[in-house]
Amino acid sequence: MWEVFEGKALEYDEWYDRNEEIFVKEVECLKKIVPEGLILEVGVGTGRFAEKLSAIGIDASLDMLKVAKKRVEVVRGDANSLPFKSEVFDAVLLIVTICFLENPKKAVEEIRRVLKKGGYLIIGFVPKNSALGKLYEEKGKRGHRFYSVAKFYTLEEIKEILNKNFEIEQISGIDVISSGDFLCVKAKRT
Ligand SMILES: C[S@@+](CC[C@H](N)C(=O)[O-])C[C@H]1O[C@@H](n2cnc3c(N)ncnc32)[C@H](O)[C@@H]1O
Repeated sequence: MWEVFEGKALEYDEWYDRNEEIFVKEVECLKKIVPEGLILEVGVGTGRFAEKLSAIGIDASLDMLKVAKKRVEVVRGDANSLPFKSEVFDAVLLIVTICFLENPKKAVEEIRRVLKKGGYLIIGFVPKNSALGKLYEEKGKRGHRFYSVAKFYTLEEIKEILNKNFEIEQISGIDVISSGDFLCVKAKRT
C-alpha cells in the first residue's frame, strides 16, 4: 500500500518537525535495542529513523526516497523481494511500516532471508488496541489519507506474523497519548 505515499512525502515528513518530542522518544526506545553492524530499514520512508539509527534504507515509493536520499543511502525495492544477498544484515528495522504492508508474513520471511544467523528484526509499531491505535483507526475510517489503508495489529498478532522465524527477546514501549502507544520489539532470527 506504498502508493498512498506518492506525492505526499513532504507532507509526511513535516509530521516529524511538528512532533519532535515524540520522535525523540521513539528514537531513544529503538536505540536501546538496535545492535551494532550493518542495518537495513525496510520501508525507510523519508529516512528520519534510518538517519538516527545509522541504517541504509529501502522503500517502494520514489517520492519518499527522494527525500530519504538526502539523509541516508537508499535503494528502491519491494519488501516482498529484497534486492540483497542472503544473510548480510545484522539487523533489519520495520518502523511504523508493518501496518502498510500488503503481505507482512511474506515480508518477514524475506527479511529473515537477508538477516545473518542470529541477526535481529526490530519492529516499531502502534498497537491496534492502544489509545493511539484506536485513534488512528478512527481517523482511517473517516478517510485519513494514510490510515485509511493501514491495517493495525495487536502485539499478539505481531507474534503470529513472526511465527517460528523469530524469537522475541525484548519488548519496550513509550507513551504518546497513553501507555504503550508505540512498542519496540526486538526479535532474533531463529
Ligand atoms: C508510514 S511509512 C514509514 C516510514 C518510516 N519508516 C518512518 O517511520 O517514518 C511506511 C513506508 O513503507 C513503505 N512501504 C509500504 N509497503 C512497502 C513495500 N511493500 N515495500 C517497500 N516499502 C513499502 C511506504 O512507501 C512508506 O514509505
